Parts: sequence; structure tokens; C-alpha cells
Amino acid sequence: MRMRKKPWAKAYLETLPQVIFQPETRQGDWAKLLKRSKIHVEIGSGKGDYCTKMAAMYPEIGWVAIERDASVSAVALRKCNGILPENMVWIVAEASEISTWFATGEISVLHLNFSDPWPKKRYAKRRLTSPNFLPSYLTLLADDGEIRLKTDNTGFFEYSVLQCEGYPLVMNEFSVDFRRIEQNEDAISEYEAKFMELGQPIYRAVWRKK
Ligand SMILES: C[S@@+](CC[C@H](N)C(=O)[O-])C[C@H]1O[C@@H](n2cnc3c(N)ncnc32)[C@H](O)[C@@H]1O
Repeated sequence: MRMRKKPWAKAYLETLPQVIFQPETRQGDWAKLLKRSKIHVEIGSGKGDYCTKMAAMYPEIGWVAIERDASVSAVALRKCNGILPENMVWIVAEASEISTWFATGEISVLHLNFSDPWPKKRYAKRRLTSPNFLPSYLTLLADDGEIRLKTDNTGFFEYSVLQCEGYPLVMNEFSVDFRRIEQNEDAISEYEAKFMELGQPIYRAVWRKK
């Protein structure tokens, strides 16, 4: 469900030093900015639970959350009183421009959590695992870089697995019920918590760059 627009969102976000509106000005500079050599990026961070929890769990890594919706971003930031973990920043922008924000090989791991599935064929280009995005990910990932994807959506999962087949990626983890066993090393996102509560299985796959 789309969140109602919050008229105060943009002005609020502009006051926060960890929020970035022009990520293209940081291309090649993320490790320096975050003072960490490894950079993990989440696209479609929603209200931020996954990325903020992971940033706290893995302080040795630099975390970049990307969310295009300013109202959703503002709610996420307000949840932590505008202060993210010190190893994390938040980009408010549309990820189709991602290839201009990061340098070649700058991302160690790309996280896609419960991405909008866009089930209608005419919107397939908007899927975050469509050919509109995957070639950019491949360029931006480090030589041993990974894409980690979780979803509740069968159609989106099948589509993503098949799409990744067309690229130099090796799948090295695959589950159609990821939370069947307790997984302490991976945080639970807002959407994931809802689906777990409903007893729905969580699909997950991890690909490594060949
Ligand atoms: C279904 S929600 C999932 C939120 C969160 N990842 C979770 O697991 O709870 C998907 C989020 O991705 C954002 N999003 C979708 N496409 C995006 C894009 N191309 N660039 C940036 N954000 C995007 C949406 O605005 C939405 O907040």
C-alpha cells in the first residue's frame, strides 16, 4: 500500500546530515565517507528496519540505504530520531540512476528486500531485477560482489532467478523457506516481519559475481 504523502517530509529530511539527495556527487567516495572499506547497499529500504539493524550488527561495514519515496524515508528517519548508525547513510532518490552514484566495483553486496514485484508485464521494466537494473549492478559490484534477494512473491522470485541466469552470476544460496531455521546473521525487514507473522514462507537467493 502506498503511503499518503507527508508534506513535511522533504524539509525534515533536508535537515539531516546522513541523508543524501545528490548521490552522484559521492561517486567513488563512499568508503571514505563511511570510513569503511566494504560498502553494502540496499535498494528500496522502505521504513529502514533492515538496513539500520544490519548497520548495527555489522559495524565494520559501510551501509547505504536507497529509498525513492520521501514520505517513507522521512518516517524511517523519524523512527531513529533522525540519527542513523554512524556507519550508514540514506539516499532519497530513484535507483534507476544508480550507475551514476557508485564507481565500478565500489559495492560489495547489494541487498534487495521485498522489492515491489510489478506483476503486470507492462511494468516489468520497473522490477529491480529487470534488464533495466541488472547490468548496472554487475558493473558496480566488486569482483567477488554479491546480490542478496528476499521476497514473499513467487512470481517475482521466479522472474529474478531466471533473469540472473542471463548474467555472469553464480547462485550460491537458495531457499524457498529461509526463516524455517533461525537466521541470526540476517535482519528481518518490515515486510518480512508481516509475512512471517502470516506464516508465509520467505524466498531467498544469493548470487556471486563470476
Ligand atoms: C515493498 S517495499 C519493501 C520495503 C522494505 N525493503 C521491506 O522489506 O520491508 C518496497 C520499497 O522500495 C521502494 N522502491 C521501489 N522501487 C524503487 C526504486 N526504483 N528506487 C528506490 N526505491 C524504490 C518503494 O518506494 C518501497 O518503499
